[in-house]
Amino acid sequence: MSDLQHIDADLLKPIDTSKLFKRLEHPPKILLLYGSVRERSFSRLATEEAARLLEFFGAETRIFNPSGLPLPDDCDANHPKVQELRELASWCEGMVWCSPERHGAMTGIMKAQIDWIPLSIGAVRPTQGKTLALMQVCGGSQSFNAVNQLRVLGRWMRMLTIPNQSSVAKAWLEFDENDRMKPSSYYDRIVDVMEELVKFTLLIRGSADYFVDRYSERKEDLAEFKKRIAQRTVTN
Ligand SMILES: Cc1cc2nc3c(=O)[nH]c(=O)nc-3n(C[C@H](O)[C@H](O)[C@H](O)COP(=O)(O)O)c2cc1C
Repeated sequence: MSDLQHIDADLLKPIDTSKLFKRLEHPPKILLLYGSVRERSFSRLATEEAARLLEFFGAETRIFNPSGLPLPDDCDANHPKVQELRELASWCEGMVWCSPERHGAMTGIMKAQIDWIPLSIGAVRPTQGKTLALMQVCGGSQSFNAVNQLRVLGRWMRMLTIPNQSSVAKAWLEFDENDRMKPSSYYDRIVDVMEELVKFTLLIRGSADYFVDRYSERKEDLAEFKKRIAQRTVTN
């Protein structure tokens, strides 16, 4: 708590797990990705603020450093950075994606990380049914191009993307000499988004598989099963 700045302590409440459906058996595990390798990257600094808030709300966090991650398919998936990213993606129950906006879009660095996370690794689906919160930083006035694109990507990765999101305008004005975020409505919005992410993550805990269970896929699985049985009968 002492590490959070610009907070009205009477208004910032710990998550009341008794109001959620599942018991807090262990802290929500959240992976945070950001989309820049600049030395003083505002998307990284915003991500670090988000991680501090998530920890206040009871989550365990990991931040992936994208520096050194190869371009998708430029090497095989045994590359240590790819392995690190995939292990973190499998470990977590929810994610935060924070991209800078460049030329009206998310950065290639952001997209490359997501492209390295496959929909399935054997029986494990590292993103399906997990929660997702979206953030972006802008150099200019507030815009939503990157978060809108990330929202589409979240759907593609079959994630439960929460309604609230954050876009920090003129990010270069929002951090002090200690690389901490100054008080502002942008900071307050990040508090809101992280609070919502933890609530949604607890809400779907234990039910994620049920949420993403699809009729059309059960139908495909049954057809595949019948085909295999038929093949076995012919061979025998
Ligand atoms: C090539 C380039 C294109 C950019 N395009 C946009 C843009 O379309 N919209 C915007 O708000 N900022 C734009 N910016 C500013 C960046 O979003 C801003 O510098 C941001 O802080 C970069 O993220 P980082 O600090 O995490 O590296 C652009 C910056 C560069 C270098």
